[in-house]
Amino acid sequence: MSWEESTRQKMLHLQLPTDPRWVNIAGMNIEDILVDHAYCEQKAASSCISLIVNFFDFEEVVNTLTPVVAEEWGHFERVMEHLKKRGYPLGKPRKDEYVVKLSQFVKKGGSREQQLTEYLLMNALIEARSCERFKLLSLHIQDEELKKFYYELMVSEAGHYVNFIELARNLYDKEKVNARWKEWLAYEAEVLEGLELRGDRMH
Ligand SMILES: [Fe+2]
Ligand SMILES: [Fe+2]
Repeated sequence: MSWEESTRQKMLHLQLPTDPRWVNIAGMNIEDILVDHAYCEQKAASSCISLIVNFFDFEEVVNTLTPVVAEEWGHFERVMEHLKKRGYPLGKPRKDEYVVKLSQFVKKGGSREQQLTEYLLMNALIEARSCERFKLLSLHIQDEELKKFYYELMVSEAGHYVNFIELARNLYDKEKVNARWKEWLAYEAEVLEGLELRGDRMH
């Protein structure tokens, strides 16, 4: 099975495709998209670090996420290079409505395994959506160099998606994880539908 096919099977469980107008507006706001993207990579690295620190006693989590931190920070560095090349400054961090809304769905309480499962599923979802958006950017924007960059990131974030979802399935009752994953997918679609369509955000 080709990479494209296997990824489609694994990931396009996302219930709402991105509004096709998004990539057109994003293509006209490359500076804003790059700045927002830089912070998405920073948040991805920070989130993996937090999971490692808070769940230090889950060996598989620590072992799987340690190299992911380095990859996400590598992505941050590469976005910085693209900004510099184009003469754009990093700019200040923006409020990430998408992540704020997703965080509100995290179930509080329960065992540490349950808590960890919630965070793993939330991260898996962010990776899946990012992957979908990178795919759109890689297909539709004008800049040839950025097209290639976004294609590479689509592949990398798909790998992270698999990491998170597999960690969750290995950690906790598979049936329960699958049932909760469906709830997360439905909630994410609702969140996306409620967000204003804007071309200066990755999400
Ligand atoms: Fe990344
Ligand atoms: Fe990632």
